[in-house]
Amino acid sequence: VIDIRKLYGQANVFTYDPGFTSTAACDSSITYIDGDVGELLYRGYPIEQLAEKSHHLEVCYLLLYGELPNAAQMKDFEGRVTRHTMLHEQIQYFFRGFRRDAHPMATMVGVVGALSSFYHDSLDINDPWQREVAAIRMIAKLPTIAAWAYKYSIGQPFVYPKNALSYAGNFLHMCFAVPCEDYVVQPALERAMDRIMMLHADHEQNASTSTVRLAGSSGANPFACIAAGIACLWGPAHGGANQACLEMLKEIGSVDRIPEYIAKAKDKTSGFRLMGFGHRVYKNFDPRAKVMKESADEVLDLLGVHDNPLLQVAKELERIALEDDYFVQKKLYPNVDFYSGIILEAMGFPTSMFTPIFALSRTVGWISQWKEMIGDPQQKIGRPRQLYVGPTRRDYTDVRHR
Ligand code: ACO
Repeated sequence: VIDIRKLYGQANVFTYDPGFTSTAACDSSITYIDGDVGELLYRGYPIEQLAEKSHHLEVCYLLLYGELPNAAQMKDFEGRVTRHTMLHEQIQYFFRGFRRDAHPMATMVGVVGALSSFYHDSLDINDPWQREVAAIRMIAKLPTIAAWAYKYSIGQPFVYPKNALSYAGNFLHMCFAVPCEDYVVQPALERAMDRIMMLHADHEQNASTSTVRLAGSSGANPFACIAAGIACLWGPAHGGANQACLEMLKEIGSVDRIPEYIAKAKDKTSGFRLMGFGHRVYKNFDPRAKVMKESADEVLDLLGVHDNPLLQVAKELERIALEDDYFVQKKLYPNVDFYSGIILEAMGFPTSMFTPIFALSRTVGWISQWKEMIGDPQQKIGRPRQLYVGPTRRDYTDVRHR
């Protein structure tokens, strides 16, 4: 690793690296990925162990503070998060201002950005205590915002948080409870939801996290930074891939049509890529995809859904692609988004909610990275350079002579 600042000092020399494929922009002690072996560690702990033994709020604590909490610390943290799950009552007017058919991600970008107009006390980023309050507020409120964006889109009344429930259980409750009926969160679905949240909680310097850091590097307030992260996540090459992937699996429809789509993905002129396949860092299995695949089997079994055609198409697509020279040579494997949509749809979520669920799960990662950056004495405003390829100096000509 070469520290370019030491190498070139203040000289006007820089590297050209579109897409930052080989440029590190920060130090971080939060998440480690070894893309060659397919390893993902949160603060040193393997994702597989966390997905099996931990729960999302514990992972939030781990990502934010660096260590697993003891029982008293966990209880205190849960208390602090649940105290902030409500939204200011006036925030409802923001939701009501959107068209009903707005994508929930559009609503979330707007509402999360608008939080900065409600929580003025969280805007002083130089005060470590206010940074802490902002972090807790964001982790607590994002599930409420995502659930309300969903409720609004289907014309149902907003459901207030129920703090006796777990983080994942409360989110399911706010999405699926209706005032005229009792709603009991199924423990198996709650566990599956919680696992999805843990698997998405952080992934080092991906596009949306880098966006949060870049926005934060100018001193922008944390709500504005997270809104920027949500906007970036929406793209189909990033978090939007889970929606795009399920839509693709539906379009394929049956296993006999898979070869046609594999051929299309290999044809550079088609503009088509296999959604949920490939990753900038993983050149091996994405460990999250493995857990997600097992989870998909479990959830569908628990729901009594056998021979789910989408799961069959997904598994067969994976099998065929992994035996195909194109995918083998380019080291393209299923990523986290490949199986998550199947689980979420089985739970009752429409595809438009897949990326908002990713966003609310990733919030802790974004805010942990933001806090790390603000607390780093080496931190500077992010400011990439460019290679200018436009016209050289020329003189202005009057409109009559053009
Ligand atoms: N289907 C077909 N070919 C692919 C795919 C794919 N899904 N992904 C990459 N390739 C090919 C590219 O065409 C390219 O081929 P070339 O070298 O012949 O030009 C090569 O593999 C490398 O691809 P790049 O786009 O250069 O790789 P990059 O690291 O920039 O992109 C990305 C990674 C964006 C994830 C890409 O693999 C992709 O578009 N995948 C589909 C979308 C997706 O699933 N995104 C979710 C990522 S995970 C997440 O954000 C949570």
